[in-house]
Amino acid sequence: MNALKPGSTIGILGGGQLGRMLAVAAAQLGYRCHIYAPENNSVAAEVAAQFTCAGFHAVEALDAFAKDCDVLTFEWENVPVEPLKSIADQAALHPPTNALNIAQHRITEKNFAQEQGGRTAPFAEVTDRTTLDNAIADIGTPAILKTLRMGYDGKGQALVKPNDNLDLHWDAVEQQPCIAEGFVTFSHEFSVILVRGQNGDIRYWDTPHNVHQGGILATSAVPAPSQVVDQQAEARALASKMATAMDYVGVLTCEFFATDDGPIFNEMAPRVHNSGHWTIEGAITSQFENHIRAICGLPLGDTSLAAERVEMTNLIGEDANQWNEILADDKNHLHLYGKGQSRAGRKMGHITKLFF
Ligand SMILES: Nc1ncnc2c1ncn2[C@@H]1O[C@H](COP(=O)(O)OP(=O)(O)O)[C@@H](O)[C@H]1O
Ligand SMILES: [Mg+2]
Repeated sequence: MNALKPGSTIGILGGGQLGRMLAVAAAQLGYRCHIYAPENNSVAAEVAAQFTCAGFHAVEALDAFAKDCDVLTFEWENVPVEPLKSIADQAALHPPTNALNIAQHRITEKNFAQEQGGRTAPFAEVTDRTTLDNAIADIGTPAILKTLRMGYDGKGQALVKPNDNLDLHWDAVEQQPCIAEGFVTFSHEFSVILVRGQNGDIRYWDTPHNVHQGGILATSAVPAPSQVVDQQAEARALASKMATAMDYVGVLTCEFFATDDGPIFNEMAPRVHNSGHWTIEGAITSQFENHIRAICGLPLGDTSLAAERVEMTNLIGEDANQWNEILADDKNHLHLYGKGQSRAGRKMGHITKLFF
């Protein structure tokens, strides 16, 4: 492994809170971060050494950015892949672009998981109003309609119930290409969060039990209940197979449903993940630090739990206005992302609490 020397520059594509927490972890290890993002008010750029504000298709700006960096990574899985090809010679990019290709398309993603031996909800592709009829007839109801690309935090999704007017759902997803998925009856949701080093070493964090509200992650807690722990080995085996097949370097997150028939793969995020935010205080080494270690060719840090129990609660929208009350509990670790405007459904920060 060729370890990147302290003082080197890490380029991060994307300027949100994940980039912010990556940049903080990188700074602790003595690296500089250069953020590249299209939006001017990047919360990652606020804590980084350098910022390029330009679009992901601005090839010249991208080229200059890559020349300034010793290694590149991304904190957003929808970074367009095509322009990245032109900077491939400037600096190594981890995770690989193949992981972006897979994660950006829900059907490619599910097919890939199946190829690696995983199980998914039944699904069908929807390209127009007629294929929507066919897909729902095929899969049955309830079903979930999700835009093939660019969905996050439950956005671009519609729950299809028996006898619903499909015209309304088709409009709700703005008549975009979609996947129709069978509704999975699950006892719990959980995620496998792993880091893979440049030498192929894989480490896992404890498996969090994730609770979503309205499609947005609300809480993650470890250790998870026994129904999740019982399915952990199978889910980890799939996630590690997927990581190895992609020749992946960095943190990879795979979301699962725990069902009576075992773990059902939902989706993957080729990056640090909201369900791993508890690792900042709750694990010996955080997901952010290990992502930086992996892409810089450093030895990976211990991923063990640092407490008996850890709970992470997201601060969504106005929740973050309670910062004063939150801090009144001296066991709360408060993280605010520095986003000026709180909007309904916007992730503004999170709280982590450790129990001993
Ligand atoms: N097929 C499904 N069956 C049951 N619940 C689902 C299904 N797909 C998604 N959900 C619920 O919606 C949430 C968000 O969906 P997800 O596929 O993870 O999209 P996003 O990219 O928005 O995170 C999931 O965490 C889960 O709670
Ligand atoms: Mg999800």
